[in-house]
Amino acid sequence: MSCSATQQAKEEIVINLQERGADIAPSMYGVFFEEINHAGDGGLYAELVQNRSFEEKEMPAGFHAEGNRLLPKPVKYHLTGEVRNRSYRWNTAEVPAWSLQRKDSLAAQMKVTEESPKFKTAPHNLKLFIKDASQPVRLLNEGYWGMNIVKGGNYFLRSIIRTSEDYHGTVSVKLLSEDGTVLASEILDITTDGQWNDVRETLTAVGQDTRARLALEFDAPGTIWVDYVSLFPENTFNNRPNGLRRDVADMLVGLRPSFFRWPGGCVVEGITLDNRFEWKKTLGDPAARPGEYSTWGYRCSYGFGYYEMLQFCEDIGAKAMYVCNVGLGCQFRMGDACPENEIAFYMDDCMDAIEYALGDETTEWGARRAADGHPAPFPLQYVEIGNENWGPEYDRRFDMFYKAIKEKYPELILIYNEMPQREGPSAIAKTDMIDPHWYVDPYFFFRNTTLFDSYERGKYHVYVGEYACNRSVGAGNMLAALSEAAFIGGMERNGDLVTMASYAPLFENCHDRSWETNLIWIDTDQVLGRSSYYVQKMSAENCPTYNVKSNITMHDVEPEWFDKGYIGFGAASATVRFKDIKVTRNGVSEMPDMSGFVFKDGEWEVDEASGSLSVAKGKQILLQEPYGGDFVLECKVYKTEGTQGFQFFLGMSADGKTGYRYNIGMWSSNDRSELLNLKNGKERGVLAEYSGEAIKKGEWYDVKIVVSPLKSEFYLNGKQILSYVPQPMPLQFINSGYDEAVGELVVKVVNAADSLYCTSICLENAVDIVAEGKVISLTAVDGKEENSFEEPKKIYPEEKIFDGFGAKFDYDFPPFSYTVLRIKAKPLSDSY
Ligand code: AHR
Repeated sequence: MSCSATQQAKEEIVINLQERGADIAPSMYGVFFEEINHAGDGGLYAELVQNRSFEEKEMPAGFHAEGNRLLPKPVKYHLTGEVRNRSYRWNTAEVPAWSLQRKDSLAAQMKVTEESPKFKTAPHNLKLFIKDASQPVRLLNEGYWGMNIVKGGNYFLRSIIRTSEDYHGTVSVKLLSEDGTVLASEILDITTDGQWNDVRETLTAVGQDTRARLALEFDAPGTIWVDYVSLFPENTFNNRPNGLRRDVADMLVGLRPSFFRWPGGCVVEGITLDNRFEWKKTLGDPAARPGEYSTWGYRCSYGFGYYEMLQFCEDIGAKAMYVCNVGLGCQFRMGDACPENEIAFYMDDCMDAIEYALGDETTEWGARRAADGHPAPFPLQYVEIGNENWGPEYDRRFDMFYKAIKEKYPELILIYNEMPQREGPSAIAKTDMIDPHWYVDPYFFFRNTTLFDSYERGKYHVYVGEYACNRSVGAGNMLAALSEAAFIGGMERNGDLVTMASYAPLFENCHDRSWETNLIWIDTDQVLGRSSYYVQKMSAENCPTYNVKSNITMHDVEPEWFDKGYIGFGAASATVRFKDIKVTRNGVSEMPDMSGFVFKDGEWEVDEASGSLSVAKGKQILLQEPYGGDFVLECKVYKTEGTQGFQFFLGMSADGKTGYRYNIGMWSSNDRSELLNLKNGKERGVLAEYSGEAIKKGEWYDVKIVVSPLKSEFYLNGKQILSYVPQPMPLQFINSGYDEAVGELVVKVVNAADSLYCTSICLENAVDIVAEGKVISLTAVDGKEENSFEEPKKIYPEEKIFDGFGAKFDYDFPPFSYTVLRIKAKPLSDSY
């Protein structure tokens, strides 16, 4: 249905081609890589064998396992001195990813050992005792949820293997389909003199399967030690050895990244410093790399190492960004800090990393790079000092690192971690850039497209190093993508300040989603871009040289006020008591009516006489009398047990599903608080956030909530920690710019509403306007839609020619769409 048919009013958009806005930096769009969700191993990195070096059961120093949980070494969180109680995923399999196929369980057995290690740095190997080989014994590797073997494809095997001298059989390698059909088979050329063999073989597949496995097959009794088994497709990106999956790398190339951030992310810091990502250990022979237990719950091989990352940057024309550790463990995990006398070690390590990329062959690490195969320097341009660190210790260390790196490498751009809601860059001497992160719901992005308009200019640039809409959008749907498109529009408009941005996380292997929303999904044989991927791609492909101003950047709608509704109490993962509850209206304070409740979920003890309540974990209760207008709710709260804090409800519907909820003391750290909007039982946006003191057990807290239709304020022990004035919720956004390379005006429009966005667009001070031009649009039937492996291109940019452009033209933007108009035209001053 068109706008004229529905007689909808048109929004007048005026774009003045002579009104030049900020330039948009060519560095704007980049990518952020981290070993999370098997993004590297089982993702971008083309290795097909999982646990190829048998190092996967190695724990970080001082850690131990209890069942399927890994418990870190007890270290003090450096900001508070507390030792946090944390545990992480642990694989209980004796030899992860490997199994034996034999006549019966007595015929052959396997065990991980450190006997006569081939490499000291990766000392484990698998010892096989074969007693009965009357039926061949197969050592099977399942790959990363299978291996994709393609008929006619060549696969490069490398195995480091040793047999006892009394082994008189052969060793062959086989690729097997899931049902056991042999897809390829070769006999390995090994000596059976007890020495290590480092053998290579090419296998050509005669059949195919996306869930294939690899087998080493033995046909005689004896003892075998297997140190390493690796299998790569011949067809890697740019045909690099130890390379990357071509289809996955091509998806990145499709984003035209100007930079590549590596290695993270939390892996930079580690659960404790003991398992931080160590770039030096990622160099050299892949068989000798020890790998590390990733903070995300599995051991990574270090196969996609520093060299491979730098090579990839060079291959795709991106600048590399290295993120260094400043001697701090992850502050969302254990948060340890190395002692003062060890800071120099971390600084040297960072300097060495820079030298490895940039130093000439006369330098120690430049020579190492040359020895690794690349005499010329690599394109390293950015160093981020720490990842998601904050607090006085981080700030102090940042200053030390900044000074040392700048002195030696003034050309490098150095980046400070800015944690919104915490101390900002005012605490440090100087930085080139700050890196704030946002993981939010769609309504945050819709409401905050002007966030950067008021940022201070002149001191540093902004790199939005991690951002994604990942709350209340499932695994990421079209509404998420549209909200990101709107936020990106705000970044582009502020291109003088925001010069770089990267979505996060980048990848997930679809069998290991440990972060709920990721840009690109990977299976053995498929790579899928979510709608957010196409927003990134369209934004990067249509990045103008400079902004062109328009009369409006968003379509305002009426704010939603705090309205009349029910008030209530609740607790998330905690048991809480509330007492001395009173409500003050028109200067009169009274205990509310607690003789009944409009909504009650869970076991509550109510003491009507004293106005007190206690609540079971995760439940809520709404008082029976509605409150509206101006009022103040006060009480005392006490947490008896549990991991999180308490909740208050305002303006709620009687079914407890729509209204507002204050969450106080969230996360296991208990130090986050927020005001949430709820609609029909679903979170519809975080309206205000606070990070501060943790809510402790066994203490009474004074709570006061001041409410009016236009505002709500939350006070904890007399301090205002949250406040919110209802804001308009725009769902339509416009930004425009000029692409000097091709002489085109680029207009980007987000319509996140479920109706047409009817516009009349007027191009002022524009000449030589060509009526025919390109329109690229990403649309969905509704905001909940998403791509899937079954329908990978359900939401996909469609390109068409529009022949109605002119000084004034109408355009109807479909519901749930992101559209780019490319109009050939010149600014008046250029030609006259
Ligand atoms: O992108 C996932 C994680 O989010 C990153 O590791 C970390 O930097 C942030 O908290």
